[in-house]
This record gives sequence, structure tokens and C-alpha cells, in this order.
Amino acid sequence: MNRTIRTAEDVLALLDRLFPPAEAWWDRFYADRSADRPFFTPEPDENLVSYLDRGLVSYLDRGLLSPGAGHAPARALDLGCGPGRNAIHLAARGFEVDAVDVSSAAVAWAEERAREAGVGAAVRFHRASIFEADLPHARYDLVYDSGCLHHLPPHRRVSYLALLDRVLAPGGHFAVTAFAAGAMGSERPDEELYRLGALEGGLAWSPDELRSLFRELTPLEIRPMAARPPGSGLFGLPFLLTGLFQRTTSL
Ligand SMILES: C[S@@+](CC[C@H](N)C(=O)[O-])C[C@H]1O[C@@H](n2cnc3c(N)ncnc32)[C@H](O)[C@@H]1O
Repeated sequence: MNRTIRTAEDVLALLDRLFPPAEAWWDRFYADRSADRPFFTPEPDENLVSYLDRGLVSYLDRGLLSPGAGHAPARALDLGCGPGRNAIHLAARGFEVDAVDVSSAAVAWAEERAREAGVGAAVRFHRASIFEADLPHARYDLVYDSGCLHHLPPHRRVSYLALLDRVLAPGGHFAVTAFAAGAMGSERPDEELYRLGALEGGLAWSPDELRSLFRELTPLEIRPMAARPPGSGLFGLPFLLTGLFQRTTSL
């Protein structure tokens, strides 16, 4: 069959095929757990910890019980969870967590780590593309993405916004960490990435670009990640940009 395009989903699938398949690439990436990759650390993102510590992500004001209050826990979704460091931190802070990654090597590692951390029962790991995972609608109080968005080809932003629209609870928060323009990542225009057939190791984002992409959400804080030395208990690299948003209207 040469004429395969009928629906918008067919167009997205065709565009996917212009780039290397994510699953095999990431499985190879995680094959050697002793490789020197900064985010192989078990330490959670400093910005995520800071949102929770400062009460920026707090559910009491919405009539929900706060994480750890001993009743219905708040729910979090970790997109592209990798070996699970942020999902495990959220579970340790009282969230009921769903964590999705396309790489089976990443999910196997994350499951082991969650068990070792004693939060195995509080995190449900899904080995799937974030666009195909079976997730409940409008139930997540926090959707967190550390380093997944910047590895997605441009057309998948359409699917990403639709996913947020589907899963984020009214009043819920969304936070993202991505390469910071001017510091790390590709600054090529979207169109050139298709001619190249590569994402050049990940896309760079400026604060304005993040605000524009997520314009239907209310930006609460957009800033570079603060540097934190390995072993400090927090993960922090200054070439990453962090953004915290809240859903105050429907997308
Ligand atoms: C840079 S890593 C970050 C991992 C983790 N969030 C962390 O910070 O430790 C990006 C992750 O996104 C995952 N990923 C990329 N595209 C994905 C997709 N379409 N669906 C699910 N996971 C994806 C990769 O497998 C990889 O584990």
C-alpha cells in the first residue's frame, strides 16, 4: 500500500518515521547502568522538590487532601520517567503515581529502584509511549516531565497538548524541564529538523517558547534549573530550563 494517509493520526505516524525510533534508541542508552549520565542518579530534580517544599504545588486550596494527609492521595503522572528518580520522590512525598516510559530497560530499572526505596506499591509504571499509555482522564493533580518533551519531534507537540488536556485535573499543575536555549540543545527551526531527520540530541527551549506552547495554562514560575553537585541529594544542571504551570481554564 502506497497511499496510507487518511487521518490526522496517519500524518503524525508518517512524520514519526522520519526520525529514528525512540524505543530502541533509549533501550541502548539504558543498557549500561554504570555509564556516566547525570540523570542516572537517583536524586530528584531540585525544581520539583522546591515546588513541593514551597507549597507551590499544593492541593489544600482546591478542597483536595494534601499528599501524605492519610486519605485520598493526590495523583501525579511522570512523563518519560526513565529510571524513576522523580516518580519515586513523588511517591515518597505521598502522591499516588503513574510513570510512563517507552523504554523497557528504563521501566525495569525504575521498578527495581521503587521497590528498593519502599514505594513499589505507590508507583504504577507503564511501558508505553506517553501517547498510547492507558491513563485516566482529568485525574492528575500534577503532570511532571523531566527531559521527555525536548526529545519529541515537533509534530508530537500536537499529541502532547492533547494528552495534557485529557489527563490534567481542573486546577492541576504541569511542570516541565527541558534544554535551555543558549545553553544546550538544538535551536534549529522545526522545519529544518524534518529536512535533517534528526533532533540533534534534543531541542532547546526559551522561556517565551515554553510560555507560547503552553499558553492555555497559567505560568507560575519559569527559570533555569539551579546547579546542584552530585551527591547533594538533589539533581540540578544549569543548562536546563524549568517551567511550572497551572490549569486554570480548559485547554
Ligand atoms: C532524558 S530522559 C529523562 C528520564 C527521566 N525523566 C529523568 O529525568 O531521569 C528522557 C526519557 O523520555 C523517554 N521517552 C522519550 N520519548 C518518549 C515517548 N514518546 N513516550 C514515553 N517515553 C519517552 C525516554 O525513554 C527517556 O527515558
